Amino acid sequence: MTNLITKTTELAMSVTLAYIKPGDTVVDATCGSGQDTVALARAVGEEGHVFAFDIQKKALLLTEARLHSHGYTNVKLVMQSFAEMSGHIPANSAAAVVFNLGYLPGGDHSITTVAGTTLAGLDAALRTVRPGGIVTVVLYDGHDEGREEKQRVLEWAEALDPGRYHAAFVSLINQQNHPPEILWITKK
Ligand SMILES: C[S@@+](CC[C@H](N)C(=O)[O-])C[C@H]1O[C@@H](n2cnc3c(N)ncnc32)[C@H](O)[C@@H]1O
Repeated sequence: MTNLITKTTELAMSVTLAYIKPGDTVVDATCGSGQDTVALARAVGEEGHVFAFDIQKKALLLTEARLHSHGYTNVKLVMQSFAEMSGHIPANSAAAVVFNLGYLPGGDHSITTVAGTTLAGLDAALRTVRPGGIVTVVLYDGHDEGREEKQRVLEWAEALDPGRYHAAFVSLINQQNHPPEILWITKK
């Protein structure tokens, strides 16, 4: 059996996949090099749809190439901020919205998610996700912007209406070098 708690990105996706079935619509809010996009495209299948956002052309090209190599054609790539997702996907329709915050590994580290925009994106995600669906956020606090972002995202999550949402935060508390942490929010 895979040791699920050793790699938080895999843990984040494995829980997310439990909320997705073939034919669903899902959102990859930060497609980066497309690893999460491919996992989501596989989960929704040919009848389903993935909307994948990134503000960097480089990320969209990497994702497009990765999707092509796997033969997936069920993904719409959007070069816009995740804060604009409501303009592309109806409210209460997505089974999952996935955020992998920070910067593109191997890319320009100055192009990173920033707290204010991330909070706008998370508000949009809560509108977009359907009842019974999940918003998954992978956070990195090993860089200055990430520390500020994590603090503000957790304050935002702690203040969510407990009658409408469940929010859970997972941190590998005995590991070094700031492994990523996970926030999950489910909508009633
Ligand atoms: C950690 S990477 C994502 C990794 C990706 N999930 C994967 O599987 O390869 C973060 C990405 O967020 C993108 N990004 C930054 N701000 C954004 C925004 N406002 N909207 C959408 N994407 C954004 C960056 O360009 C970068 O590609």
